[in-house]
Amino acid sequence: MLVDGKPHRTIWPDEAGVAVEIIDQTRLPHEFVTARLETPEDAAHAIRAMLVRGAPLIGATAAYGMALAMHQDSSDAALDAAATLLLAARPTAVDLRWAVDDLSETLQPAAPGDRFRSAWARAAAIADESAETCRRIGEHGTALIEAAWQGAAKEARPVNVLTHCNAGWLATVDWGTATAPIYAAHDAGIPVHVWVDETRPRNQGAALTCWELANHGVPHTLIVDNAGGHLMQHGKVDLCITGTDRTAANGDVCNKIGTYLKALAAHDNEVPFYVGLPHSTIDWTLDDGFKIQIEERDGAEVTDVQGRTPDGTVTIVRISPDASPAANPAFDVTPARLVTGLVTERGVCPASTEGLLSLYPERRPNRPG
Ligand code: MRU
Repeated sequence: MLVDGKPHRTIWPDEAGVAVEIIDQTRLPHEFVTARLETPEDAAHAIRAMLVRGAPLIGATAAYGMALAMHQDSSDAALDAAATLLLAARPTAVDLRWAVDDLSETLQPAAPGDRFRSAWARAAAIADESAETCRRIGEHGTALIEAAWQGAAKEARPVNVLTHCNAGWLATVDWGTATAPIYAAHDAGIPVHVWVDETRPRNQGAALTCWELANHGVPHTLIVDNAGGHLMQHGKVDLCITGTDRTAANGDVCNKIGTYLKALAAHDNEVPFYVGLPHSTIDWTLDDGFKIQIEERDGAEVTDVQGRTPDGTVTIVRISPDASPAANPAFDVTPARLVTGLVTERGVCPASTEGLLSLYPERRPNRPG
C-alpha cells in the first residue's frame, strides 16, 4: 500500500539477501522508521516487542526468522532452537505456529548446506503468498461493501464501515485482512467511510489504522472504543469488518480485546459483522475458540499511554494512580453465532464448521465408506 504516495510492504529482504527490513510499528504514527533484522533473536524480539504485529505479519516475520537462523548455523540443533525461540514470542496468533511448522517441514529433509537458500526462498514465498491472499480477501469482500452501498446510495451518503484494532496492511505483508475489502472498494470508486476504534490499550486503531487509511486517502473518523454501540443504534454503521488472530474450526474468532463487544452490539442492532482472514489464521486443531490461549500483556500498557507533545516529543505518560494495578488480556473470543460471515481468499462463508469446510474441502476428515 502507499506511504507518501509510494508502494510499500511491511517486510522485505535487504539487497544482499542476508537480513530483512521492517517498518517499526512502535514508532507510528509520529515517525516512519525502519529496522533491520539479522538474527532469529532480532525476529523474535520484533514480534515480542510488537515492532511487527498482526497475525499474518507475525507469521511472515517468523518465517524470515527461521531463515536468518539458517544463515548463522544450519544444523538440526539450530533449526530446533530457532523454532522454539520464535514459537515462544507471542501465543495467540496461530500464523506464527503455521509459519514455523512450514519452515521446519521444508528444512528438516534438506541437507544443512542447502538449508539457508531453501529457507530464504520459502520465507519470501510465504510473504508473497500472504500479500496475494489478502488481495483476494479484498476482491471477495468488496461485494459486501458494494451491496451495503445500494442502501447508502439511496440516502446519498458513503458506506460506513466500523473496524477494530489494526487488521490493515500493517498487520499483514500488504493489503490487510479487514481493510482489504475497504481498499478494494475505495479503489473501485465506491464511497467508503471508516469508523476506526482507537483500540486501547495500545491504540492500534488510532496509531496504525488511521495512519494507513490517511496514506491511502480513505475517508475515516477515529472514535473511542465505547462509541460503536451508540453509532450502530443510530444507523451510522452499515457493516463491521474486523480481523482475527486465530479462527477455530467451528468459526469462533479470536481477535483484539473488545472485538466481542462490537459483535454483541452489531448483533443487537442487526448490523452485519464480517471477519476477514487468510487460511493461515485457521486453527484446524481447535473445534472451540474458547480453547485459544489469550495473551496477557504488561499492565503498563493500560496504565500508561504513548503520545506526542505539542513540541513534537514522543513520550509516555501515566493515566492512573501509581498504586492501581491493571489487567491486560490482549484478545477475546467472538462466538461464531455473532459472526455474519468469514471473508477468506477463497470466498465468503458462514462462520461454522460446515461453512469453513465448504471453502477448504481438503480439510474435511476422511470418513470410511
Ligand atoms: O496485538 P496485535 O496488534 O498483534 O493484534 C492484532 C489484531 O488483533 C488483528 O486484528 C489481527 O491480528 C488480524 S490481522 C490482519
